[in-house]
Amino acid sequence: MVSRFFGRAMFSQSAAYYDAIYHWKNYEREAEALRGLIRQHSRRPVRTLLDVACGTGQHLAFLREHFAVMGLDLDPGLLAVARQRCPEIEFVEADMVDFDLGQHFDAVTCLFSAIGYVKTVPRLRQAVHAMARHLQPGGVLIIEPWFGPDSWHVGTVHAVFVDQPGLKIARMSISGREDRLSCNDFHYLVATVDGVRHFTERHELGLFTQEEYTQAFSASGLDVMFDFDGLTGRGLYIGTRPL
Ligand SMILES: C[S@@+](CC[C@H](N)C(=O)[O-])C[C@H]1O[C@@H](n2cnc3c(N)ncnc32)[C@H](O)[C@@H]1O
Repeated sequence: MVSRFFGRAMFSQSAAYYDAIYHWKNYEREAEALRGLIRQHSRRPVRTLLDVACGTGQHLAFLREHFAVMGLDLDPGLLAVARQRCPEIEFVEADMVDFDLGQHFDAVTCLFSAIGYVKTVPRLRQAVHAMARHLQPGGVLIIEPWFGPDSWHVGTVHAVFVDQPGLKIARMSISGREDRLSCNDFHYLVATVDGVRHFTERHELGLFTQEEYTQAFSASGLDVMFDFDGLTGRGLYIGTRPL
């Protein structure tokens, strides 16, 4: 039984449209930048990589050319898209807060603010701990954070539009907040040859401070630094497991 607060599959209705909605992201360029950072910060040769909360596997589609990779995500709909994109990669359905794959990696990543979905500071610490214990000594953990409590603005109107042959989408939301959670009720209007459908999804993410992120890394025994620019302007926490 999963509570509403920690409900599963936030993308339960929109998984098939994820890639279309985020068409503006340059995953190839991000993967290239990530590779440079991994090279710079790891203290061992990097051959294996785990992408936690990998979504539809778009970073892995590029990273697989350089590393032996594996993906993990909670959402079966997104994993189905990832498996179709990269049939040779192993994808595991699991919760980043508490997973045990029984193996270690030279690099572990968690990108595009997926970490925010853990919602609370105790769960942030658990998730960072789970990722850190999958690292080889000298390995590197890279997490792209969500907004902090001071940088999230309530009442901002957002819209994303998709205009492809045979697929039109409008996704709209107004940013909200409940205490230390950002709340977005996404309204989707999706038109395909089968008709026009409206549905909503609620996405709640934890608003964690820099200190909460860095403490989670330190508590897991990692040396941590913050790369201000990161991949997309949200910065990156980069932890290294001592040798
Ligand atoms: C914004 S998407 C990012 C996906 C991918 N990293 C990307 O860059 O496109 C957030 C991802 O976090 C996943 N997610 C949310 N909570 C999770 C959890 N507790 N464990 C594993 N994955 C989770 C979602 O299913 C989704 O794939």
